[in-house]
Amino acid sequence: MCGIVGYIGEKQAVPILMKGLAKLEYRGYDSAGIAVISDREIAIHKTTGKLENLARKIKGMTIPGTIGIGHTRWATHGGVTDLNAHPHASCKRDLVVIHNGIIENYQELKEDLLAKGHVFQSETDTEVIAHLIEQEFDTLPTLSTGNPLTEAVRRALSQVEGGYAIVVLHRNRPDTIVAARMHNPLIIGLGKGENLVASDIPALLDYTKVVCDLENGQMAEISKNSVRISNLQGKEQPLVTRTITWDVAQAEKGGYPHFLIKEIHETPAVLRDVLRNKIRRGSINPQPLGLEGLDLRKINKITLLGCGSAAYACLYGKYLLEKWTRITTEVQVGSEFRYHQPIIDGSTLVIALSQSGETADTLASIELAKKAKPMRTIGVINAIGSSMTRQVDQVCLLQAGPEISVASTKAFSSMIVSLALMALHIGKVRGVQTDDSFLSEINRLPELTSKVLEQEHEIARIATYYIHHQDAYYIGRDVNYPSALEGSQKLKELSYIHAEAYPAGELKHGPNAVIYDHFPIICLVPEGHVYKKMISNIQEMKARKASILSFATEGDTRIAAHSDHVVFLPRTSEEISVMVNTLAMQLFAYYVTLYKGYSIDQPRSLQKYFPKPGEITAPPKSIDIDKPRNLAKSVTVE
Ligand code: AGP
Ligand code: GLU
Repeated sequence: MCGIVGYIGEKQAVPILMKGLAKLEYRGYDSAGIAVISDREIAIHKTTGKLENLARKIKGMTIPGTIGIGHTRWATHGGVTDLNAHPHASCKRDLVVIHNGIIENYQELKEDLLAKGHVFQSETDTEVIAHLIEQEFDTLPTLSTGNPLTEAVRRALSQVEGGYAIVVLHRNRPDTIVAARMHNPLIIGLGKGENLVASDIPALLDYTKVVCDLENGQMAEISKNSVRISNLQGKEQPLVTRTITWDVAQAEKGGYPHFLIKEIHETPAVLRDVLRNKIRRGSINPQPLGLEGLDLRKINKITLLGCGSAAYACLYGKYLLEKWTRITTEVQVGSEFRYHQPIIDGSTLVIALSQSGETADTLASIELAKKAKPMRTIGVINAIGSSMTRQVDQVCLLQAGPEISVASTKAFSSMIVSLALMALHIGKVRGVQTDDSFLSEINRLPELTSKVLEQEHEIARIATYYIHHQDAYYIGRDVNYPSALEGSQKLKELSYIHAEAYPAGELKHGPNAVIYDHFPIICLVPEGHVYKKMISNIQEMKARKASILSFATEGDTRIAAHSDHVVFLPRTSEEISVMVNTLAMQLFAYYVTLYKGYSIDQPRSLQKYFPKPGEITAPPKSIDIDKPRNLAKSVTVE
């Protein structure tokens, strides 16, 4: 998640670029930079750290120019350094590029360009785009019509594999910004005598409310009075616009009422980024997983560390790691482990999970684990630059972008996908896991999770039946036991309904005693090797008059007979079903909370509101408290 802003018009570009980048601050970043054309020269200013570092760097400077581009970087290739910050220039510094995304074949392209004499300044994948465009621009035959910069960008992009949103400036074309998009967002803002481009709407709203969402495979030639859209094949496309009706505060939430639901909806895009980064040419890439350079055959034990939802992700990791690698794997909750006498040695791999990278209990646990000199410590972390990224030997980035809502959603999903990829890779290297179908299913996750989101209305409708309850159980077996734990955690922390999770077979060993008429039991019952066992458990609960909500596989014709409500989810393997179930349970917890009239992630005023079961009307106007009570996004104290 990075931020892109571009401006062309009559005004000075720098203040507009800086203000636009500030509006994208919520996306998080590690470096920032701008480029502005004046008198056919490009001025580039960039630096690591927050935007204020860049502001400090350019303070007092006169940087004239009415055309410019700006970027906040979220590093994927190459460390967080001034040279790796964007914009990136070509050899002759005739043109600059800003990029969000990953160029998958950059290594081959770079070798080819180096052989042709191009000199690189950075370690980024992005820089190859600048050199490719330069090469195309310099060798372009004279065009009878059209803008040579657009044509050079088009020709360069035809050689590129991967995902991108780019903006390009050329010092000899001070009348044009060229933009292009493949998988990463880019939006054009249409003003009067000026036009803008940005990766998200908040950066545009001070100047215009009329926008054009660039589609995958589209390019835009932006001048101050016109915007021409074409596709990568060079065919003109219509300029489709829409008018934004939200205010700036709403725009930060992408038009959603809460960060939580926005973040839930970001899951398919996050997983697409994660997979693009961690799978290369159909094989798992050990480098971004933190596994590179490790003799995976020598691992004797894996210790997984985390707190709260991260600990539930660890438990899912344990199931998969033991299944796919046959390595003994333990899960340790940070708040307990820090006082243990760990059984760790030079053949133990320690993997710590944390969205924030600042959870005190997890940090202390890593410290303790490190004293026992493990083989390696890997931090599976979302927040770049957090304490944990500095503490561990290797980092596996979650790439979920900033997660504002206290309840973790997209970062949790990225955690479990990252662990599944680690388990598959280690299993393959050790010759234990040879079934490629799991990787194919993981590759389908952006599509599978998008299908789950299509069930949102149905899940919201079902949620209305559960808002008056005080208690709930979540049950699952095998890999869906950790997902039951996470489902119950979401319901608890958002709706304050007392929810507990059990391995389904455990109910008869005690928890059954609590069940009363209509006691809600949320059952994770995808088709698979424990399906029949789950049905038996559900029947036992039904016999005790519980209300059953099943999360099941589409096409399952048996489940409805045993359930009060069923959410049908896309078919996939049992191991991967956890990722679709998780998303569906997040939506369920969100709507139960919404219809209970409780706060989700922002303060609202008091008014109770309950829809009738099965009836969806407008959500409540107001709420009684702010944020999930008693919780903090990042628990930096013991
Ligand atoms: C998740 O919804 C919770 N808010 C909480 O359990 C969280 O997962 C836990 O505090 C760990 O946070 P971390 O991932 O930032 O370390
Ligand atoms: N892959 C590019 C880099 O690491 C772009 C990252 C981004 O999207 O910010 O510089």
